[in-house]
Amino acid sequence: MQEQLKAIQQEALSKVEEVNDLKELQAIKVAYLGKKGSLTQVLRGMGKLSPEERPVVGEIANQVREAITTAIEEKNTILENAALEKQLQAESIDVTLPGRPVKVGGPHLLTKVIEEIEDLFIGMGYEVREGPEVETDYYNFEALNLPKDHPARDMQDSFYITNELLLRTHTSPVQARTMKEYNGEKGFKMICPGKVYRRDTDDATHSHQFTQIEGLYVDKDVKMSDLKGVLNVFAKRMFGEDRKIRLRPSFFPFTEPSVEMDISCKVCDGHGCNVCKGTGWIEILGAGMVHPNVLEMGGYDPNVYSGFAFGMGPERIAMLKYGVNDIRQFYLNDSRFLKQFHQA
Ligand code: DAH
Repeated sequence: MQEQLKAIQQEALSKVEEVNDLKELQAIKVAYLGKKGSLTQVLRGMGKLSPEERPVVGEIANQVREAITTAIEEKNTILENAALEKQLQAESIDVTLPGRPVKVGGPHLLTKVIEEIEDLFIGMGYEVREGPEVETDYYNFEALNLPKDHPARDMQDSFYITNELLLRTHTSPVQARTMKEYNGEKGFKMICPGKVYRRDTDDATHSHQFTQIEGLYVDKDVKMSDLKGVLNVFAKRMFGEDRKIRLRPSFFPFTEPSVEMDISCKVCDGHGCNVCKGTGWIEILGAGMVHPNVLEMGGYDPNVYSGFAFGMGPERIAMLKYGVNDIRQFYLNDSRFLKQFHQA
């Protein structure tokens, strides 16, 4: 029996030695130490031994079990470590590989120009306001001294929704809305950027939807010279310190007198070129002193209060400043066009 036990030990140890797979190792364990394993089988025969032999064989049997168990455990650790190592190798990340580039966006050129203009006027004490794009006929026209059937309504072909509702044709209604809010009680300065809509055929210089920035300053004793001063600062900050401005007489129903402001052409410095069509001047915006009717409808006493207003198109300003020659570029969202200005 002792011989048998030794033989089992030797056989088991050599099998453990050879095995290279955790599952097979488990099978060996079962085959020798399991309930039906060969060692267990041999030990069952111990009952037939003499009382003197039993403890001797028992001790050997224990040593054999010990030896096989230890060998299996050691091998188990070795195989587990090897498996872990293999998995780590397979899943390893090469931190030296270059990363995938992330595409970085940026604000739209129009947004940038609008924000630049906002900052400039905020610096001069103006608040930034908003108004609805779906506007009433009253605010879009009537409150701006354009009664129904006024011929100047034709200046702005409109998208009507109902008889009384339309897509605003300009940001000027925000003038009337702001005056209403201040209730004729105190002076204020505001600008209002926003989208406007006209029934126009789109081409390089026209769009059925574009943006405007309205400005309004109402207070006691606001004069035309104040308007000229503010426009001068605006033109120089936006287009460069050596730009000059000039005001030409014009007509808008909501201002009296009305003017159009030109800046001296940057390309030819006022000498005349194809950008300024030989005149040396480029038209930038409309402005004027707020018409007494408009003040009155806004709740301001025109004998006490006066004001100036202006309206400009950020597209036009962006086109001049950045040399864009087609207004449609602003709305096509072609990233090749847009990304040129991300660093500008
Ligand atoms: N609302 C005018 C337009 O869309 C622009 C304008 C001109 C606004 C003169 C003004 C202004 O506030 O004073 O054509």
